Amino acid sequence: MSSSAAVPPPLHVIFGAGQIGTLLAQQLLAQGVRVRLVRRGPAGAAGPGLSWGQADVTDGAQAAAAAAGAAVVYDCTNPAQYHRWRELLPPMKRGVRQAAARAGARLVVLDCLYMYGRPGKAPFDEDTPLLPCSQKGALRAQLATELFEAHRRGEVRASTGRASDYFGPSVPTALFGQAFAERLLAGKALQMGGDPDQPHSYSYGPDVAHGLAALGLHPQADGRVWHLPVSWQGTTRGLVQALAARLGRPAKVQAFPDWVLRAMGLVDPVLGAAAEMTYQWKLPYLLDDARFCTAFGVQPTPAEQAVAETADWFREVARTHAAGTRAAA
Ligand SMILES: NC(=O)c1ccc[n+]([C@@H]2O[C@H](COP(=O)([O-])OP(=O)(O)OC[C@H]3O[C@@H](n4cnc5c(N)ncnc54)[C@H](OP(=O)(O)O)[C@@H]3O)[C@@H](O)[C@H]2O)c1
Repeated sequence: MSSSAAVPPPLHVIFGAGQIGTLLAQQLLAQGVRVRLVRRGPAGAAGPGLSWGQADVTDGAQAAAAAAGAAVVYDCTNPAQYHRWRELLPPMKRGVRQAAARAGARLVVLDCLYMYGRPGKAPFDEDTPLLPCSQKGALRAQLATELFEAHRRGEVRASTGRASDYFGPSVPTALFGQAFAERLLAGKALQMGGDPDQPHSYSYGPDVAHGLAALGLHPQADGRVWHLPVSWQGTTRGLVQALAARLGRPAKVQAFPDWVLRAMGLVDPVLGAAAEMTYQWKLPYLLDDARFCTAFGVQPTPAEQAVAETADWFREVARTHAAGTRAAA
């Protein structure tokens, strides 16, 4: 008589336990797979089906050990320093790719839209040519090209999910994070680069994670670029107004010119590095997610719901920060 040991669910390894990586882990655990979250920092709380790894993806041995046993690897890493991408990003992207290849795992890469430059139409789809108009965009275009060259050579089976600027609960971006929440709740003016009255796609964090999970769970995604579902397709001012209305506060949006960013960049290099990207808010910048939504039967979260959940989280963030400040005083 043979005893049949239960086969464990497949292991999905997520490099990058940041704002999207952690949401992705929740989505995958809900789908019944095992998840290992990896970052350089210390392990978080393990749970049913969830383990942690510690690795610097630029160290080949560490990255390979962290990816061992994976059926699918996700790249949700991001360099900590926005102004040092040229030096930090290539070894990170290549490190995750090589770790996935060594594990024989499929690879799903989370990416931004910088590689497109100024798209000639709105909305723009996955066939939009890569015509970067910034240094960071040129780097992203080069790394995206490298990824699919490796796929075509058969080194790794890869797909990529591209998202626009995030907003949402548990997604403390530079744009819609704690400082924004506190100013909005205090009724203070909110400074935005570019033109806040141009249409601009904003990707809801949970939708980004949901989209990546779909790519990881469906091998037919391999070899292609996918635009992940987009919840907000209005103007930046419209989004701020919707958030403010939910919180019962006034929406005061002030546009600031690029020269202010460049001047601030003399003391804060991250702001200086942001100056070359404000073109995205000076033209209609709308992502076409139809291909993904049709292929995977997924719809973005309705904008009203995404706004409500984000605004509720803003209250929580501001309350937690205020309590922390009082305790420290
Ligand atoms: N922010 C946006 O609005 C936006 C929009 C679209 C696309 N994206 C893209 O989405 C991707 C993920 O960004 P995110 O903002 O979600 O990330 P994030 O919250 O900044 O998290 C990045 C994670 O990467 C880890 N990490 C950094 N360097 C590492 C290394 N050398 N080895 C291992 N782990 C490392 C960090 O942990 P440790 O520091 O502990 O290692 C952290 O867990 C990026 O490619 C970003 O450009 C961002």
